[in-house]
Amino acid sequence: MEQKTKIKGKVHYVGVNDRTKALFEGLWPLPYGVSYNSYLIDDEKIALVDTVDICYFEVFLHKIRSVIGDRPIDYLIINHMEPDHSGSLSLIKQYYPNITIVGNKQTFGMVEGFYGITGEQLLIKNADPLDLGYHKLRFYLTPMVHWPETMMTFDETEGIIFSGDGFGAFGTLDGGFIDTRMNTDIFWEEMIRYYSNIVGKYGSAVQKALEKLAPLNITTICSTHGPVWTEQRGKVIDLYDRLSRYEGEEGVVIVYGTMYGNTEQMAEAIALELSAQGIKNIVLHNVNKSHSSYIISDIFKYKGLIIGSATYCNELYPEIGSLLPKILLRDMKNRYLGYFGSFCWSSAALRRMNEFAEKSKFEIVGEPVDMKISMDDLIYSQCENMGKAMADRLKQDRETSQD
Ligand SMILES: Cc1cc2nc3c(=O)[nH]c(=O)nc-3n(C[C@H](O)[C@H](O)[C@H](O)COP(=O)(O)O)c2cc1C
Ligand SMILES: [Fe+2]
Ligand SMILES: [Fe+2]
Repeated sequence: MEQKTKIKGKVHYVGVNDRTKALFEGLWPLPYGVSYNSYLIDDEKIALVDTVDICYFEVFLHKIRSVIGDRPIDYLIINHMEPDHSGSLSLIKQYYPNITIVGNKQTFGMVEGFYGITGEQLLIKNADPLDLGYHKLRFYLTPMVHWPETMMTFDETEGIIFSGDGFGAFGTLDGGFIDTRMNTDIFWEEMIRYYSNIVGKYGSAVQKALEKLAPLNITTICSTHGPVWTEQRGKVIDLYDRLSRYEGEEGVVIVYGTMYGNTEQMAEAIALELSAQGIKNIVLHNVNKSHSSYIISDIFKYKGLIIGSATYCNELYPEIGSLLPKILLRDMKNRYLGYFGSFCWSSAALRRMNEFAEKSKFEIVGEPVDMKISMDDLIYSQCENMGKAMADRLKQDRETSQD
């Protein structure tokens, strides 16, 4: 019987599922959990590609032994040093003392820094090969997808790209791990949320990596998180390509910070007008309830962004105040921005929003609206104007995309 761990050729899946952690990197909620994927190539020379979070070492070791028994591992290829993947490195070294660590010149300083393991072992440069027997590997340096040492390993024999965090998604692998043997529905949204929050700042690095990969005949994507992609690999590459070019779909995210609901009425008025103008993708986020990772994810998805904030102690509403730097941090491009504020005795939120608008690279759409205390006819029509201006701007792009 063929081993259930097998992917293709002599490559096996030996990753683990984490259904315990509440927040990935201490920041990102994991409603569907997360997998730490590792791959074992059981060839004439045996190679392990990345490890897993240290909490899962026992499970990991058991999986490795179910494939190779007591035989030693020749190489540990480190595509990425973030501890969700390198966490089991020093234990692997204890169990397999003769293993050769394969990395680039950025890798070994981190191996020493994190784990006290010194010395370069097998230092590779971009496009260097490694022959395992049947599988012929080649390494591609892809710095900043997600860290400076990040690289990808391509198996030229079977067309498998071991892509590190690239093409990763949140979500555990429940049963099957190959896209053809599972329901992949949840992974698309979780891929956007993973990409936008974790890799999102490094769009140009992802574009460079995609250029390097373009000539390769890829049949299978083995990322460090989420499914192994075979049949649906085209959709995955296309999604990463669009996200890393900051190319949004037609649609608007309206994020607002409110205590008593007056600012929310402005958001509702804008949304109603957008809908009346024929915009279908409209997402409202009350910043008190939506975790920022979902808001950032939707901002990556849609071209239109409208932000509103009540004034709070002569400042932005605190949760909006913490969201704006998260948006700036990700260096997003090609977005249309509208904004509004509210106050009771002295306006401050709108002033801060003006500052944000200047710092962002976004195209400002419509006239900012500032509301004193509560909605009246004038403010309502100003909100409608903002909705109309945003809808018009988005519809203008429809026309250019048809040309
Ligand atoms: C804790 C707190 C602090 C506030 N600070 C200010 C302020 O510094 N300046 C001001 O004009 N209004 C201030 N307000 C009033 C609100 O900004 C104003 O009523 C706004 O319209 C509330 O919008 P909301 O109903 O969406 O929460 C404050 C309200 C609260 C509850
Ligand atoms: Fe990472
Ligand atoms: Fe990772």
